[in-house]
Amino acid sequence: MSDEALGLEQAYSVKTPEDNRRLYAKWAATYESSFVDAKQYRYPKAIAQVFDDVVPSVTRVLDIGTGTGLTGMYLSRLRTGLVIDGMDISPEMLAQAKLKTRADGRVVYRALYERDLTKKVPNENAPYQALFSSGTFTHGHLGPESLRNLLPLLEDGGWLVVGVNNEHFESKGFASELESLVALAGIERPEIMRIDVYEPGSVHYGDQARVIVTRRQAPIT
Ligand SMILES: C[S@@+](CC[C@H](N)C(=O)[O-])C[C@H]1O[C@@H](n2cnc3c(N)ncnc32)[C@H](O)[C@@H]1O
Repeated sequence: MSDEALGLEQAYSVKTPEDNRRLYAKWAATYESSFVDAKQYRYPKAIAQVFDDVVPSVTRVLDIGTGTGLTGMYLSRLRTGLVIDGMDISPEMLAQAKLKTRADGRVVYRALYERDLTKKVPNENAPYQALFSSGTFTHGHLGPESLRNLLPLLEDGGWLVVGVNNEHFESKGFASELESLVALAGIERPEIMRIDVYEPGSVHYGDQARVIVTRRQAPIT
């Protein structure tokens, strides 16, 4: 498959973490030119904006499914002092994220970690004050069960701002997993927002994502 052929169809047809590794190894170098710019994908910018609107002053945050680092980059411009780390399964995507810079020329990410977020996630740092994610909770990538893997990465009271593909949210039962986590006292009752994923003028304009906004309540076992 040529890089030009890579796009949403391929992204939505992956099934396993290994498929994801293979897809994004091939796509990393052209992901922004062939997809983000070409399709006027505004998801990273929208998640950064929701984060800035809802999360109070915090200092250490984590980008879940960092990709090429666009969400962290936009957030670093809205919250200039933030320490931002990132996790992703693809070393090739993380290599692109490493190059992203802030408005003042400093790198966006303090540290980037290769992690499979479908599994229990090793964390060498103190729990974060907030996590955010764009484009990674979608078909064949991360499902509702992965939300449990994220909670130990957060301090008590820490914020989650997680975008989820609309159809994936319905078909994989995110609402019932969120109910279970509330019942287990793992998270506060979430607010579910909606954002446009593409700019007006994009062929995909009108596609929306849900954004789960909640806080970690207490450790769950
Ligand atoms: C569509 S990209 C989104 C990247 C970025 N957040 C953005 O919005 O541009 C999805 C990302 O999820 C990552 N991913 C897929 N499966 C994963 C897994 N099991 N664990 C961690 N990251 C994963 C991919 O490597 C890829 O970088």
